[in-house]
Amino acid sequence: MEFKLLPGGVISGEARVPGDKSISHRAVMLGALAEGETRINGFLEGEDALATVAAFRALGVRIEGPEDGGLRVHGVGLHGLKAAGATLDMGNSGTSIRLLTGILAGQPFDSRLSGDASLCRRPMGRVMRPLALMGARIEAAAGETPPLLVRGGQTLEGIHYDLPVASAQVKSCVLLAGLYAEGTTTVTEPAPTRDHTERMLQGFGYEVRRDNDVILLRGGGSLRGTAIDVPADISSAAFFLVAASIAPGSELLLTHVGMNPTRTGVINILTLMGADITVQDEREIGGEPVADLLVRYAPLRGIEIPEDQVPLAIDEFPALFIAAACAEGRTVLRGAGELRVKESDRIAAMAEGLATLGIANEVLEDGIIIEGGRLGGGVIRTHLDHRIAMAFAIAALRAESEIRVLDCDHVATSFPGFDALARGLGLQISTRAGGEDGERA
Ligand code: S3P
Repeated sequence: MEFKLLPGGVISGEARVPGDKSISHRAVMLGALAEGETRINGFLEGEDALATVAAFRALGVRIEGPEDGGLRVHGVGLHGLKAAGATLDMGNSGTSIRLLTGILAGQPFDSRLSGDASLCRRPMGRVMRPLALMGARIEAAAGETPPLLVRGGQTLEGIHYDLPVASAQVKSCVLLAGLYAEGTTTVTEPAPTRDHTERMLQGFGYEVRRDNDVILLRGGGSLRGTAIDVPADISSAAFFLVAASIAPGSELLLTHVGMNPTRTGVINILTLMGADITVQDEREIGGEPVADLLVRYAPLRGIEIPEDQVPLAIDEFPALFIAAACAEGRTVLRGAGELRVKESDRIAAMAEGLATLGIANEVLEDGIIIEGGRLGGGVIRTHLDHRIAMAFAIAALRAESEIRVLDCDHVATSFPGFDALARGLGLQISTRAGGEDGERA
């Protein structure tokens, strides 16, 4: 499937984007490991989160739904999982494979995990190393990539682990293995990363302590099923925050957006660039802050992106690079080497697409320099990365001619219905499959 975008357009109206991907994954995982039932609302029915659901079903957990974002997980307790009997297919989802590896390292049975071509290129050594220190036995393909074989029946011991990279997936993997470990597990972060695992464990009645940059839990407890209301994903909202900011005349209300402070870097960065974003009706729902965001068009200026914002906006850089392309002057990003090991090398993939549209940029090892300018049209390659596809779709709002974005199927991993929602809000987008033009609602 590919996107075809006519140039120009104004973004207006009101929308609630789909549920948060990180929270949806964790709700299923902790619900499965809890005692009793967990009811989830606002669940993201995207391929990544559905891969987590399928994995836990294969591990013997009864899960009803999803139906209209509703899911019921009949928890089996920390020690109730069963061997899957077949390889667990994690699709495109780094969160599924890395967090699940932590859980499976503590089971009495062996498990195999794999995924698509993109996932099978992503580094797993970052979770294998701390898990090995805890006593786990994990085998991987060459270069420490999936498929993974997690050997069961090992006794895990708590460790003190200094994360070498700011990664919520690695932190969460170690903490989840820590549930099965003897003694105390602590993790120290080099910079704050999303803390949904810690918050949600507490919501399930499991004690997790945080002391500055150190997070601590003790193995051997239990989780109690609960109710979880998943907010709209700020990472999906980000495309429309940028869309409305760059298209003159735009005014858009995004409702029920997750505003966890470890995720709001995109708002901080856009505001520094001159964006007009008003945070309304801030509230807390199920342990996570939520708000409505009113965004209006405003001329943007290039900035040096503060490095402390990088982990807080790590998934939003494809959208932010489009904002930088539409800004006046130069935007500089450094300290973002992690972008090279996402669903694609997002620095290289964005640099290529920006150059296609005529935007001058210089690739750095750990970032990029983007000169704002006039966007032309052209044909964009996504490198099978959902966020690259959506970023170049919104770029059309300021382009001078048509943009075609090839290979957009992966958009369904995080944002099912992106094209229909975007069309309803004013983007001139149509989808094309099998060589024929078509409007797919
Ligand atoms: C995620 C953590 C981040 C993020 C990913 C989701 C999570 O990855 O990029 O989309 O749910 O924990 P890293 O932990 O690799 O930074």
